[in-house]
Amino acid sequence: MEAINKSFFLFLANRPLLDRLAKRWGSKFGADKIVGGETFEHAVPLIQNLNSQGLRVTVDHLGEFVASDAEARERTLECIQTIRMISAHDLNSQMSLKVTSLGLDISHDLAWGNMIQIMEEAVKHDVFVTIDMEDSSRTQATLDLYKALKQKYNNIGTVIQSYLYRSDQDLDYLNEVKPILRLVKGAYKESAKVAFPDKSDVDHNLKQLIKKQLLNGHYTAIASHDDAIINFTKELVKEYGITKDQFEFQMLYGMRSQSQLDLLAEGYTVRVYLPYGNDWYGYFMRRLAERPANIAFAFNGLFKK
Ligand code: FDA
Repeated sequence: MEAINKSFFLFLANRPLLDRLAKRWGSKFGADKIVGGETFEHAVPLIQNLNSQGLRVTVDHLGEFVASDAEARERTLECIQTIRMISAHDLNSQMSLKVTSLGLDISHDLAWGNMIQIMEEAVKHDVFVTIDMEDSSRTQATLDLYKALKQKYNNIGTVIQSYLYRSDQDLDYLNEVKPILRLVKGAYKESAKVAFPDKSDVDHNLKQLIKKQLLNGHYTAIASHDDAIINFTKELVKEYGITKDQFEFQMLYGMRSQSQLDLLAEGYTVRVYLPYGNDWYGYFMRRLAERPANIAFAFNGLFKK
């Protein structure tokens, strides 16, 4: 049943017509429970509220795939503006972005040029930037871009997905640049040619990747709502004497909020991934695919006055 739901929602996530309709309707179907508003101004009080509880944030301006250089440029300016606003409001927040929104599918040079502009602004305002990882057709291009950027900038990280067979080698590929990585299970629809079909293998691989990245001595964000993964990490760091300044836990806004606070109370660094913007459809569908219980959000939203 879960597998059917997952495929179904990942299929829906990729429907341009539904995406356009969703944008027109606005944040119905409960998306506002997991998305921080249509503009950064809407997100600011949410970030301030999370910060006041001790939670750190990474904001993500929703949006993937652009069709033209001009659109990629627009997205780049939005990222630059977000960095300026984080700084102007003195928020404890990083920024996450997707390189397809900066033109990666159009050309490497376009995405590179846009990333350089974003990183120059990020350095100026001391804001950390994470390149989210998208589907496997973009993995190599994203890692190449990251590796080159990490040689120029320290305040940049990316994401490795444990459902991909290649991920262990990807840690080796990045190791020389001392990668700062968010480790996740992976959220896209992938074939058995490239990704473990069995969830237990995905979970096992995530544990292996966490261990390898931490023992390589690099900063690690463990981004999962899964207690098995969180408890594994707690045991691992105890066993190897890894200090709390070498890693953090990350969860999505609106997911397991009490667990976020519990981890914080135990002295761990916890960061909340807060997406904002009107391009919420694909993000929302991927969340439904992950956890059928999230469908409750949709129905609550549907019947809300
Ligand atoms: P999973 O979905 O495997 O669930 C395992 C168990 O955890 C469940 O059985 C349940 O017990 C518990 N659980 C999960 N969600 C819960 C909830 N909401 N409430 C209560 N219990 C819950 N992916 C990607 O491909 N590229 C990326 O860049 C990112 N970035 C990213 C950032 C951050 C901060 C997070 C947290 C996640 C991502 N992801 C991602 C998504 C990631 O790949 C993955 O799809 C989701 O995190 C779901 O996997 P989990 O490990 O959270 O648990």
